[in-house]
Amino acid sequence: MLGEPLRQPDELKSYYRNEAVVQTYLERRTAQPLNGLLHRRQVALLNEIVTTARPRRILELACGPARLTAEVHGVRFGVAVDASMPMLRVARERTKAALWEFLRTDAFRLPFKDHVFDLAYSMRFVRHFELRDRWRLYAEVRRVLVPGGLFVIDALNFHTSYPARVERGLEHYRIYDVLYRSGEAEAELARAGFQVMRSEGLLRWFPVQRRINRLRFRAPRLARWLIDALERLPGSWPQTWMVVCKNPEPSGEGTAVRQEPQLTRKAPPE
Ligand SMILES: C[S@@+](CC[C@H](N)C(=O)[O-])C[C@H]1O[C@@H](n2cnc3c(N)ncnc32)[C@H](O)[C@@H]1O
Repeated sequence: MLGEPLRQPDELKSYYRNEAVVQTYLERRTAQPLNGLLHRRQVALLNEIVTTARPRRILELACGPARLTAEVHGVRFGVAVDASMPMLRVARERTKAALWEFLRTDAFRLPFKDHVFDLAYSMRFVRHFELRDRWRLYAEVRRVLVPGGLFVIDALNFHTSYPARVERGLEHYRIYDVLYRSGEAEAELARAGFQVMRSEGLLRWFPVQRRINRLRFRAPRLARWLIDALERLPGSWPQTWMVVCKNPEPSGEGTAVRQEPQLTRKAPPE
């Protein structure tokens, strides 16, 4: 009997400090045809945003073992934060570029000054909390983003994820995930003060793709090929949306040249 899924900030922190969880994390998130495709699509979207927005400073919240950060290119300077030392150790090993700084800190209390990052992103993190805590995280992200800065986040689709979870057995989901109906994630981010720019569905044929994924043991190459091929067709059943939003510029500020802010920190917590 596994009981209720973990959803409290302290529970989540201790779960991800476990060495066994850390050691298996990347394999679980990238090796299967379906997870591998989700990973590649998230990386591609982040790379597209970095290429077009050319942020001077990037923040990744809860980077884990740098699943994304190790594959994001064109970074001028980035800070990746996580609460787990073992996760950060793997992240540092995987990300050789001196352009990234890794910091153990609590995402709910970021040790940065206001308005210092041009882009922040966070995957598989904010969704693990209930609204009250998500709200605290949004406020912290808005505080450290410059006006006009971008925030990219993932949101799970209730309509496709819930039936899949029920079929697999809800007891397999150790960690809470908020699942959104169409438009709800965007509305939540708008209520938190962000301006939603774009929402892109990933694993667009999820109900079919997850069935094909079962072929991976007998015919892994065929499974991968079919799952990838479906993703190239327009489909309206995504597993996840990637929502890109903006920290609004105060009205009247227009395109005035910003002061270059200093990224000096307060003392890290604990
Ligand atoms: C599911 S992993 C996601 C890792 C990565 N973002 C990805 O998409 O693969 C969640 C991460 O959140 C981190 N974490 C949990 N609570 C945290 C907190 N309060 N502050 C910062 N990081 C936290 C964990 O240590 C873990 O690395």
